[in-house]
Amino acid sequence: MESIQVFKKLETVSDLPTLPVIIDKLREAIRNPRSDAAKVASIIEDDPAMMAKILKVVNSALYGGASGQIDSLKLAISRMGFNAVNNLAISTSVFKAFGESAGGFDRKEFWRHCVSVGIAACAVMQACKPHLTHRYEKEFLHLSGLIHDVGKLVFAQYFHDEFMQAIELSKTERITLVQAEYKVFGTDHAAVGAWLGKRWKLSEPMVEAILWHHNPKRAKTEHQELVRICEASNYICNFRMIGNSGDAAAPRCSSETWQALKLGEEDYYAIMDVIVAESDKSEVLLSLM
Ligand SMILES: [Fe+2]
Ligand SMILES: [Fe+2]
Repeated sequence: MESIQVFKKLETVSDLPTLPVIIDKLREAIRNPRSDAAKVASIIEDDPAMMAKILKVVNSALYGGASGQIDSLKLAISRMGFNAVNNLAISTSVFKAFGESAGGFDRKEFWRHCVSVGIAACAVMQACKPHLTHRYEKEFLHLSGLIHDVGKLVFAQYFHDEFMQAIELSKTERITLVQAEYKVFGTDHAAVGAWLGKRWKLSEPMVEAILWHHNPKRAKTEHQELVRICEASNYICNFRMIGNSGDAAAPRCSSETWQALKLGEEDYYAIMDVIVAESDKSEVLLSLM
């Protein structure tokens, strides 16, 4: 199969998962400097399931546990901040969009991989913070991690047999899944995921993180740090086999990334400790599925 056939087929898919309309409304409200927590709350109230999830998260370990139960959405939004609410709304919608459809590989373990990469991304950012020129919010990093492999879900849903063939090929030929995908599809899950991310109107840095998480040097200069954080986090979670990404062999992490982020061996172990300590947070996010 050639890459062009993959994208041609995707262009014609009529049941391609979409993000709910409230995501568009939220995006608009957040851009408007006159928006306040009441305005954002009024949008979310249209989706009671989303509202329940936001309250669950704000009262969870992710926000330091309940120091007094928050049961008002407006208060939850003030506590979390608009961007955090927006990123969480997108995360839960991505879970929902592909909730039942990732047949052929262990979906729960796949989500665990994605959520863990989000948690790892925050830990990596903390470890290399003094050297970074950009600042990223933790929810933004959580979402980047959650979404980085979304292309695998697209493959699993719309090219199921070929994707299973690629997974098998990576096992039998002991090559990375990306290499196997190129053999089968002429493209990889990163390119397909970025294609979906653009259709979903995700922000440019998020799309770059999806597109280049296996090849960060090709990312735009201004997004290199984020993409390298995702590459390193993905590597760590695969190497330590946290969840299951579908890769038979852990994807490599370029030495340029370790150098660019100025991460040494001791940082690697510190990051691992954080991921283990924060695993209860991944349970909170997994429970939103
Ligand atoms: Fe990947
Ligand atoms: Fe991954």
